[in-house]
Amino acid sequence: MSAPKILVLPGSTRSGSHNVRLAALAAKELTLIDADVTRISLADYPLPLFEADLETRGGPPENAVKLKQMIMAHQGVFIASPEYSASVTPLLKNAIDWVSRVRERGDASYAAFKGRVFAISAASPNATGGLRSLMALRQILELGCGALVIPEQVAVQQAETAFDDMDNIIDIRTANLFRAQLARLVEMARVIG
Ligand SMILES: Cc1cc2nc3c(=O)[nH]c(=O)nc-3n(C[C@H](O)[C@H](O)[C@H](O)COP(=O)(O)O)c2cc1C
Repeated sequence: MSAPKILVLPGSTRSGSHNVRLAALAAKELTLIDADVTRISLADYPLPLFEADLETRGGPPENAVKLKQMIMAHQGVFIASPEYSASVTPLLKNAIDWVSRVRERGDASYAAFKGRVFAISAASPNATGGLRSLMALRQILELGCGALVIPEQVAVQQAETAFDDMDNIIDIRTANLFRAQLARLVEMARVIG
């Protein structure tokens, strides 16, 4: 059986980002359970702020098409989602909005979000760990884009002190929940094949 292909994507490009760190840990853990992992940064897919007239004039930008194709080349997607104003980052929402508008020949609508499985987790310096960004992201992906998002999710609280020197999550319970989430993602990605 071939290894399921999992895309790992943080919703932050900030230097020192907790969610980039969480995404790196996800990539490491996923590789340990024999997933074929690709980790990307939205910094490599710069996009203008979505605006309907811009889309009407020129269609989706090349980077939106590239990002959509990157997502479609995987059976699973893990997103580490920072919390801004009790929601997702504008960077992540803008990328999702643009990708949702890409329709290549023969595509169903929202093609990038169908036929694969998503897992979402968050890290935040505050006590809720970005939980509200996960609620918002789940709504965007499931209700907005028709994606399948597994119920397992982790919100890493007090992110500044939550990781050790090896970038592992210190709290054992949270670390175990994170591993269980990733194992479930791989299991579901295998089913989707
Ligand atoms: C505009 C803005 C709004 C924010 N709102 C929240 C919030 O509602 N809840 C929260 O936990 N953190 C909030 N934060 C703090 C972020 O969680 C924090 O900056 C975090 O480090 C961002 O993720 P990153 O480290 O992956 O870049 C906010 C930060 C900014 C810049």
